[in-house]
Amino acid sequence: MSTPLLAVENIGRRFGGFVALEGVTAAFQPGKVTSIIGPNGAGKSTFFNVLSGVLTPSSGSISFKGKDLKGTRQHEFVHLGIARSYQITNIFPDLSVHENVRVAAQAGQSRYNIWTNRNRFPELSAKADAALEAVGLAGKREETAKFLAHGQQRALEIAIALISDPEVLLLDEPTAGMGPEETKDMVALLEKLATQRTILLVEHKMKMILGLSDRILVLHHGRLIADGTPRDIQTDPEVRRVYLGQNDGYA
Ligand SMILES: Nc1ncnc2c1ncn2[C@@H]1O[C@H](COP(=O)(O)OP(=O)(O)O)[C@@H](O)[C@H]1O
Ligand SMILES: [Mg+2]
Repeated sequence: MSTPLLAVENIGRRFGGFVALEGVTAAFQPGKVTSIIGPNGAGKSTFFNVLSGVLTPSSGSISFKGKDLKGTRQHEFVHLGIARSYQITNIFPDLSVHENVRVAAQAGQSRYNIWTNRNRFPELSAKADAALEAVGLAGKREETAKFLAHGQQRALEIAIALISDPEVLLLDEPTAGMGPEETKDMVALLEKLATQRTILLVEHKMKMILGLSDRILVLHHGRLIADGTPRDIQTDPEVRRVYLGQNDGYA
């Protein structure tokens, strides 16, 4: 196997006395789609926060292309090529679609020039347009973000994450709150993105996950209870017991 892009070794994360993640070891190979599933509160978002530098682990180590990321700050994760979107929609509602992405591009230039650095405006503007094109929102460029449909807002967040041209894209429940039509569009977008990037996904929609993923990790009470292909996971008795059996979306 090649050197993993991203790897965690025996990762743990506590909040006070509460153990949200414990003893998680996993490695992510380039070009693959990996989904992380598990019941609510299993530690999926916490795992993403650790993998994207939002939270430092309480124990264990994380590495990118074999380099230990101890002490690396969140904005440096983005520069390394690790970007993410959040479970909750996270855009500027009163800015236009294009401005939302351009602001993100400006923020990426310098942490101190989010609003003021206009000398590279044409270049940043073009970058923003390319990101909108990649998620199918070019036609909504001038729309005020709050007037977009929910599914389009989630696509906009992905455009924002794409601004840094990440090798690894972490998406936390990108289809949350979507009906079947919007979900179908999002799956098509994810399939397209997956041809160019390594994707980590937290999702609940089992049919979608089984179809889209090269690999699935299952978290339960902060521990990794399974790690395998969709077929492995579907037939794993422990997984069925703690998760799949109670998930209506499983078919
Ligand atoms: N910042 C925090 N402070 C305290 N507890 C937290 C914090 N973030 C998450 N938790 C707790 O850790 C557990 C795992 O949360 P989370 O990772 O969000 O789960 P999931 O995304 O799988 O639903 C939950 O019990 C949650 O309440
Ligand atoms: Mg979560």
